[in-house]
Amino acid sequence: MTDYFKRTQNKLSRIVESKAATVLAFETSCDDTSVAVVKNGREVLSNVTASQIAVHNLYGGVVPEVASRKHIESISAVAKGALAEAGVGFGDIDAVVSTYGPGLVGAVLVGLNAAKGVALSLDVPFVGVNHMRGHIAANYISNKELEPPFLCLVVSGGHSQLIRVDSYSEFTQIAATRDDAAGEAFDKISRELGLGYPGGIHIQKMGEGGNERAYTFTRPKMKGNQLDFSFSGLKTAVMNIIRGEKNMSEAAMRDICASFNRTVVQMLADNTFEALDELNQGGKKYSLAVAGGVAANKMLREALISRSAKKGIPFYSPEIKYCTDNAAMIGCEGFYRLIRGERDDLTLNAIPYLEI
Ligand code: KG4
Ligand code: ZN
Repeated sequence: MTDYFKRTQNKLSRIVESKAATVLAFETSCDDTSVAVVKNGREVLSNVTASQIAVHNLYGGVVPEVASRKHIESISAVAKGALAEAGVGFGDIDAVVSTYGPGLVGAVLVGLNAAKGVALSLDVPFVGVNHMRGHIAANYISNKELEPPFLCLVVSGGHSQLIRVDSYSEFTQIAATRDDAAGEAFDKISRELGLGYPGGIHIQKMGEGGNERAYTFTRPKMKGNQLDFSFSGLKTAVMNIIRGEKNMSEAAMRDICASFNRTVVQMLADNTFEALDELNQGGKKYSLAVAGGVAANKMLREALISRSAKKGIPFYSPEIKYCTDNAAMIGCEGFYRLIRGERDDLTLNAIPYLEI
C-alpha cells in the first residue's frame, strides 16, 4: 500500500460513514474538456465544459491528437472555472474523480493525470470512473427519486447498449451494437450531407418539417441475440440515396433526415421495449432510463415517453445538458463508488476499451 493510500484512508472512511462528499470531477474522454463540482452525488454545484467542436468540425470528426492537445490547453482554466462557479476552494474538496475509460487514450490521460495530481496535492481519495456508467448516472442528477433497478438504453457516439442496472454497482449488458453506434451513424450521414459535426443535432434540425415516411428502410435480421443493434445496413442505404441524387434539394434532404431519424428511433425503441417485456415477466419490476449523446434526440425522447406511458412503465431521462459528455455525471458515479468505500491508487491507467 502506498503512503498516499494510507494517508487518505481516514478521509475515505469518513465519506463512507457520512455518505456525504463534495467531489471535483474530470472528464476528457473525447472532445469536451469538462470539470464539475458535485455535492453528495446528485447536487451539481458547477459543470464547466470547453467544447472543441469548432476545431474538429474542420475535419468532419474528432482528430485524437488535436483533442489531447486542446484538453491540455484548457484543463487548468476549466478546473479553476468549475471551482469559482461552485463558490468553493480546493480546501472544500473531499475527493477527486476522473473518467479512466472508455475513450481516446491520449484524451482520457489528460483529465486522469490532472485529477491524480490534484488528489495527491490535496491528500484526498481518488477514484476512477467508467465513462459509460457515468452516462447512466446522469439520470440520477436529473431525477432525484430514481433508484435501481432499471433498464438503461445507452446511446452515444461510440456505444449502443441495453444495460440492466440492478443496483448502484451491478451493470449487465444485455444487448450491444454489432457494428456502428447510433451516434456514429448520425455523424456519418451528417458528414455525407455536408451538415457538420457532431451530426445528431444537425440531422434532427434538418429533419424537422421533413416527411419521416418518405423513405422506408428494411430492418436487419439478427442471428443470435435478437436484442442486439445494427446500423451499418441503414447507414449504407441512406448513403446510397444521398450519393445517387446529384444536387439534392433542401426538401429532399429534410425527408431523408426525418426518415433516417425515425428508423433509428424505431430500431432502438423496439428492442428496448422487447427487453423490458422480458425483464418484467419476473418478480422484479424494471423502469426505463436513457443515456448518452443520442438521448438528446427529440424524436427518441418522444417515442420513449409515449411508449413507456402506454405500458405504464416509469421513464427517466437526463436533462439535455447531461446527455452529451460532461463531468457532472462522472462526479455522480464517482460519489456512489466512494460511499461504498471504493477508490483507486494513483497508478490507475487509462483503458481505451473499458467495458461496462
Ligand atoms: O455521449 P456523447 O457526447 O459522446 C460519446 O461518449 O460518444 O455522444 C456524442 C454523440 C454524437 O455521435 C452525436 O452526434 C450524438 O451523440 N448526438 C445526437 C444528438 N445530440 C448528440 N444524436 C442524435 N440527436 C441529437 N440531438
Ligand atoms: Zn460519452
